[in-house]
Amino acid sequence: MDASSDEGVVTEEVIVPRRVGQASAEPWDVLSPVDIEDGSGSAQNRLLIKGGRVVNDDMMQDADVYIEDGIIKQVGTNLHTPGGTRVIEAKGHLVMPGGIDTHTHMQMPFMGTQAIDDFYTGTRAALAGGTTMIMDFALPQRGESLIEAFHRWRTWADPKVCCDYAIHVGVTWWSDKVAQEMEELTNEQGVNSFKMFMAYKDTWQLNDEELLESFKRCKELGALAQVHAENGDVIKENSKKLLELGITGPEGHEMSRPEEVEAEATNRACVLANQVGCPLYICKITSKLAASALGQNLRRGTLVWGETIAAALGTDGSHYYNPCWQHAAGHIMSPPLRNDPQTPGFLMELLDVGDLQTTGTDNCTFSAAQKALGKDDFTKIPNGVNGVEDRMSVIWEKGVVSGKMDPCRFVAVTSTNAAKIFNIYPKKGRIAVGSDADIVVWNPHATRVISAKTHHQAVDFNIFEGMEVHGIAEFVVCHGRVVVEEGEVRAISGMGKYVPTPVFNPHVYGRLEERERANAPCKVERAPYEGPVAQLNGQGMQEGGIIPVQQETFYTRGPTRSGGVNLHDSSFHVSGRQRDDDLLPRTSIKLVTSPNSSSSLLGTFW
Ligand code: URP
Ligand code: ZN
Repeated sequence: MDASSDEGVVTEEVIVPRRVGQASAEPWDVLSPVDIEDGSGSAQNRLLIKGGRVVNDDMMQDADVYIEDGIIKQVGTNLHTPGGTRVIEAKGHLVMPGGIDTHTHMQMPFMGTQAIDDFYTGTRAALAGGTTMIMDFALPQRGESLIEAFHRWRTWADPKVCCDYAIHVGVTWWSDKVAQEMEELTNEQGVNSFKMFMAYKDTWQLNDEELLESFKRCKELGALAQVHAENGDVIKENSKKLLELGITGPEGHEMSRPEEVEAEATNRACVLANQVGCPLYICKITSKLAASALGQNLRRGTLVWGETIAAALGTDGSHYYNPCWQHAAGHIMSPPLRNDPQTPGFLMELLDVGDLQTTGTDNCTFSAAQKALGKDDFTKIPNGVNGVEDRMSVIWEKGVVSGKMDPCRFVAVTSTNAAKIFNIYPKKGRIAVGSDADIVVWNPHATRVISAKTHHQAVDFNIFEGMEVHGIAEFVVCHGRVVVEEGEVRAISGMGKYVPTPVFNPHVYGRLEERERANAPCKVERAPYEGPVAQLNGQGMQEGGIIPVQQETFYTRGPTRSGGVNLHDSSFHVSGRQRDDDLLPRTSIKLVTSPNSSSSLLGTFW
């Protein structure tokens, strides 16, 4: 049918939402090929979501949304739509951008086995929960080509993905070749973020020098550096001690990786990145201490963003102490969940105030039998949990239903912020004309009980088992196609697309350029020194006597505790200003900032 010929004649195929739990009358699992072809003329290509409340990160409006060929064409009331348009009645529902899960590991080979949810089951489950895009990681082995790893992941993903996906690439070792391949990945393959590991010693862990090199390279390429922030050396040492003590069960995992091990790495990553002027993204923060370290760096002016995950928001580390080994091992992930019931609420509040910006899942699932590879040694339990399906509901329940955030903030932390940080906004993360039609029609009143028995994931365990959540993705639209209908998933493998992410994101790099201009170091112009110069005799000894050190040139400072200087705060800034400039007259030499310098808080030359 020619869509233009019947413009204004509304022949609507109305889909009325059924109550949750009511069986679908349709055999949705199979779509005919014509339905999935763009431009087929099928009603699939024209969709009206009618009568709902559109929620973006910055506004809500009661409006209809009209979609054609996968793109949002109109948002408003009294829209003119062509005949044959399919209609979803969304009265009483929220119409929000589909979720973006910033952190998944589908079918990842890891710890001697392979994650059980692959790009098909994982992305199908994502859609079931209202997530329409995932960001996965291509992680090369030490010494392996990054480009080969990237293509391997694409080969796995492309035929299977049911929703869109992007790829972050791991920098798991360092060399000139790695630096060169990073450029090819950014220029030719649509990669704009690289992940460095500060843990997993002997496999993916980088040392500080390598971290600095990789941060510098990210900056040159306009990419975003990501880190897994845990101190791998400390973890190795702690694990050895615990095993020697006979602590071999899952609780050893949590004991070996205390909060300060995460916080130290978080702070160190912030300092290293700031020193070379590289924007930084801290992955999957699970602890109060690490989140606070990030907050302190944020307030000192570091360009840093923080992600937390559904697991850390919806459950806690008390499970590691469960007498059932299988149950405890089912929760093993890194950084670990914290044995503190307050942590999930704390992290949720930080998402609300903006200290944390994104939510992923680190979805990396292993069956009970796979977890049992570590039955006698917690260091051998494959790390990873579920979340890709339940993230939206868990955040709705713990964030919105609890009164910690409003629906706009929910949209910000489940999609919009991710789209902005990874430079795919407003194509993704917004309901607006021109944006991709990736939409979730959310029933905020319906409830469900999460269970491994009913979830769509391949894994046989669910860390949220038994949790009753409000908020259900009743309809999910991906590229303009209805892929979830009243809880029934009708996705097809290969339907999703790879989404390239461009570098030099203005949301990330915009501030940096101005800042560096404003804070460029500038030398002190002075007359040359013309006095005597000590002669060295080749062994570091001065002939002609040692020049006495002036008393006031050096002074020591006692340790500071409460009421003193925060040990996290450096007292030295290469910008020239020092924290106690206002307190002490100083005789020592200092660098001087550019006259234009406005910020005293930036410790970076570049
Ligand atoms: O526990 C986790 N997260 N497993 C996957 C690998 C990683 O650390 O990202
Ligand atoms: Zn991960």
